[in-house]
Amino acid sequence: MSISNRPIVIAHRGASGYLPEHTLAAKALAHAMGADFLEQDVVLSRDGAAIVLHDIHLDSTTDVAQHFPGRARSDGRFYAIDFDLEEIRQLRVHERAHLDDKRKGSAVYPERFPIGHALFTVPTLAEELDFLAGLDRSRGCRTGVYIELKSPNWHRREGLDLSAAVLAVLQQTGYQDRPEQVFLQCFDDQTLQQLRKQLKTPLPMIQLIGENGWGEDSAVDYDYLRTPEGLDYVASYAQGIGPFIPHIYLGKAVSGAPQLSALVEEAHARGLQVHPYTFRRDELPAGIGNFEELLDIFIRQAGVDGLFTDFPDLVVDYLNQWEAGP
Ligand code: G3P
Ligand code: CA
Repeated sequence: MSISNRPIVIAHRGASGYLPEHTLAAKALAHAMGADFLEQDVVLSRDGAAIVLHDIHLDSTTDVAQHFPGRARSDGRFYAIDFDLEEIRQLRVHERAHLDDKRKGSAVYPERFPIGHALFTVPTLAEELDFLAGLDRSRGCRTGVYIELKSPNWHRREGLDLSAAVLAVLQQTGYQDRPEQVFLQCFDDQTLQQLRKQLKTPLPMIQLIGENGWGEDSAVDYDYLRTPEGLDYVASYAQGIGPFIPHIYLGKAVSGAPQLSALVEEAHARGLQVHPYTFRRDELPAGIGNFEELLDIFIRQAGVDGLFTDFPDLVVDYLNQWEAGP
């Protein structure tokens, strides 16, 4: 049996359930596992290089504090934008670690790749796209990229233009006009509007939807974006939404049945794709017994169009088994 509209598997920060996030090793593994798209979170260095890093800080995933002691800001954090690319190249990347005093240095996901166990570095966006193009060639496939612009307003306040930097790399690497192979995503609506209307990118865009209390780098009201009027607004500039898992799965009824919001249906009614985040075998939502149950709810019941996962192999296997039938 073939699944009509098989959902896309987006490897969240690569195969980050198995190797440290956003390393080229994690991207190679996700590529080999058959993910449809590989995610890149992007921030800028002091000299304006687009690097693949989830945080605007370097200290949760690299050895910056040991390598450059004394380079933290007054809040104690080491900001990528305070370091030139040449300095960032000297850092070693490790599995994400806690920073608070009680848990300092311990892994956020303790069952994953051991901290300090191997040599990994921070790639630039250009290096990663070239690497993936090489893998596409050697493996005979065409894997997509799914680029998030991280904290674009913060970058502007620091004097750097993240959108322009990302588009320049896409141009340089030949990805700028491949709408079937590239998604752009952002938590900030104004940045996506600028990309579409002023910078005139033809690439499909996904409006990420968070929680207002997270302090995302945007003035947008995420509660509003999930309303029918908010989704009308998103549909005026984007091709889809990237909601948080609890925006769709509301918990279980007394009967044990999963309770779903109307968000997927409302988005589909406006032609918007729905790619929720983040599906983790080692971090299941309340009331969910195992990863397969979570996938059943979102893929078979809610009917999402794709999902971000740290474990792309498990989602690919799930979809293949579904296609193979009973
Ligand atoms: O971009 C989708 C998802 O990755 C958003 O969350 O914090 O992992 O970038 P985050
Ligand atoms: Ca992301």
